[in-house]
Amino acid sequence: MMQPPLLIVLLAAGMGVRMRSRRAKVLHHLAGRSLLGHALARAQAAAASQIAVVVAPGMEAVRAEVLAHAPTALMFEQATQAGTADAVLAARGALERHRGDVLVLFADTPLIEAPTLDKLLGALGQGANIAVLGFVADDPTGYGRLILDASGRVVEIREHKEASAAERAETLCNAGAMAFRVPSLAGLLARIRNDNAAQEYYLTDAVALANSEGLIALPVLCSPQEAMGINTREQLAMAEAIFQARARAKAMREGVTLIAPDTVWFSYDTAIGRDVTIEPNVFFGPGVVIAEGAEIGANSHIVGARIGEGARVGPFARLRPGADVGANVHVGNFVELKNASLEAGAKANHLAYIGDARVGAGANIGAGAIFCNYDGFNKHFTDVGKGAFIGSNAALVAPVRIGDGAYVASGSVVSRNVEPDALAIARAAQEQRPGWAAKFRALMHSRKKKP
Ligand code: UD1
Ligand code: CA
Repeated sequence: MMQPPLLIVLLAAGMGVRMRSRRAKVLHHLAGRSLLGHALARAQAAAASQIAVVVAPGMEAVRAEVLAHAPTALMFEQATQAGTADAVLAARGALERHRGDVLVLFADTPLIEAPTLDKLLGALGQGANIAVLGFVADDPTGYGRLILDASGRVVEIREHKEASAAERAETLCNAGAMAFRVPSLAGLLARIRNDNAAQEYYLTDAVALANSEGLIALPVLCSPQEAMGINTREQLAMAEAIFQARARAKAMREGVTLIAPDTVWFSYDTAIGRDVTIEPNVFFGPGVVIAEGAEIGANSHIVGARIGEGARVGPFARLRPGADVGANVHVGNFVELKNASLEAGAKANHLAYIGDARVGAGANIGAGAIFCNYDGFNKHFTDVGKGAFIGSNAALVAPVRIGDGAYVASGSVVSRNVEPDALAIARAAQEQRPGWAAKFRALMHSRKKKP
């Protein structure tokens, strides 16, 4: 059956006072992406014909984040934060132009999964005018309670603040996502009043109103993990824990070995191939892609990096954005890479900084080598040819090129290009004074004996 066009209204205008933050709540991060970013990704996956985001006046950073994730989304301003129904109505312009279903999502509920939203929208095709996402809460404090009739329809949603003691004992709660197939959602919401404890226009009151007008509201259930709403920093940390548990389980299902799963931290987009082994205490920031068979040693910190097949990274490696580690490359302990590609089979096994560089296939970067990429004003590039050998404690002062197969002597400070297959020595020549040490010792001993 053809689905009618879908408008998603995403609410992000709340002040989030319970976060006690100068930053808007929806800009706080979960697994390397803002809550808003998660919600927008979810909205985009739901194949909406239009996404409308409701923000508060002055939320410039929130607007920028919307644009970054969903450039075609419309934005509406809610003048005062008078409640969730008022917030949806702020998008009246989009509602009135739209012919089809409407899905309302909260930007502070980032863990709802795509199949759950499909189920919610599916209920509209099965006779519901309103489909309400519900869950059974372990601790229902703060959530609205779904009140069902004997036939299982939702007759009302009672906000926690308005609930009686008996109602508060109920654990079937409103997750916040609601789908509507009604003649006019704007019309329905306009009839909601704010005669309640908080003097807010509650979106949840749409259910009782719809019932009184002969419309049908049905519940669709999801897990309490998915429904988790984030109002405080403790809840943000709990949501992070749920996200991480999911990501670890998914990685292992897909063939990744995690020796100590609870100590590995993923980002929302971490992509790992089969038969990769990850040792304990590894952190992945956004933008990491790891090919099959790679090994990531303990205590490595990896952000914005590609790691090729069979490569070995760490223990104690730091890969920063733009690190591109080729197949079978070795990056060892206390090696930092930034905007640098190491081509197949190259090695940097100990204590090095490699920034703004290409290191050719099979090249060897010795212990303590430093790529001096910054002159205090600009960054410069270093190119190391294939099979080159950079001795320990060398400093390569960029911009500089080391030819294929060239050697750089240990301790050299190289500021001019080195020809292929040449040896560059750029340090004081060694002097030798035969017998000097023995004479020196004799002199010192003789002085010491005197009173
Ligand atoms: C809301 C629901 C509650 C549900 C819970 C699920 C209402 C009245 N209550 O409560 O039934 O169990 O979510 O997490 O809907 N917002 C605006 N403008 C406003 C007020 C809120 O844009 O004027 C946005 C917020 O940014 C947030 C969302 O709406 O993304 C929910 O608002 P919030 O104040 O967090 O509602 P809850 O008290 O959590
Ligand atoms: Ca909330």
